[in-house]
Amino acid sequence: MLVLKTEKELKSHLLPLGNEKSLGLVPTMGALHHGHASLIRRAISENDTTVVSIFINPTQFNNQEDLKKYPQSLKEDIHILEKLSSEIIVFAPPVEEMYPNGVTSTSYQFNGLDEVMEGAFRDGHFNGVGTVVEVLLKLVNPTKAYFGEKDFQQLQIIKRLVEIKDIPVDIIGCPIVREPNGLAMSSRNERLSPVLRKEAGLIYKTLETAKKRFGTESAKSIMDWVKNQFKEHPNLKLEYIEITDVETLMPIKRKQDNRKYRAFIAVYADEVRLIDNIALN
Ligand code: PAF
Repeated sequence: MLVLKTEKELKSHLLPLGNEKSLGLVPTMGALHHGHASLIRRAISENDTTVVSIFINPTQFNNQEDLKKYPQSLKEDIHILEKLSSEIIVFAPPVEEMYPNGVTSTSYQFNGLDEVMEGAFRDGHFNGVGTVVEVLLKLVNPTKAYFGEKDFQQLQIIKRLVEIKDIPVDIIGCPIVREPNGLAMSSRNERLSPVLRKEAGLIYKTLETAKKRFGTESAKSIMDWVKNQFKEHPNLKLEYIEITDVETLMPIKRKQDNRKYRAFIAVYADEVRLIDNIALN
């Protein structure tokens, strides 16, 4: 398996592929799980060559403790990738390679997409994500790049990023992969105790019920109901529940038949922050 560390190495492997061959990129921060595997399988099935990047991006962490605790497992990750396909190109650069001019973010105009939910609770997060994704897209120049819908807000922001920066790539959103109790797969789940991991199944169960209620109830009454559910589970601290328009990510005012809506949730399980979302119609 090819594991490349520098832009120079990457370019020297990608250039000979030429423009006729399709190239898929799956950007990750490592600690690979079944959710990543589903993105990578899709990229492999749709492209001649697949690049998986593994880079824990410091500029998207608003909380330095969270960055310190982020799992680092390059050896295990490479092992997982080898099992998926030995032809994957792994790009695992050091920080200096991605940020040669210092570890800072670019400021983007995301049209308010970055001001709600994750953006409101994680200052600077989406400028950090935008910065690293822009660098990766320009380095790899993929035909398609794959992102999970668990980070649905991130997905919408990356679609906006490629529009404003005029980057010629198809951004592909892939469905959330879940643990047997419904908990969305995340590298953070490893930090949960077995008891809490089981209890965290409540997050998806609540979203599913919210979806059922959406046909007949107002967004406010659904959100109040969700808040009450979590009051009964003190180990799970609700940070936010929002019901928004899928395109603008603005909170729903009045349901319109021709619009799509989604519910978004963030919950602390002890000190582990978990997010999830569901399509409502
Ligand atoms: O979703 C992630 O893992 C990260 O935000 C990404 C897209 C790899 C950028 O660092």
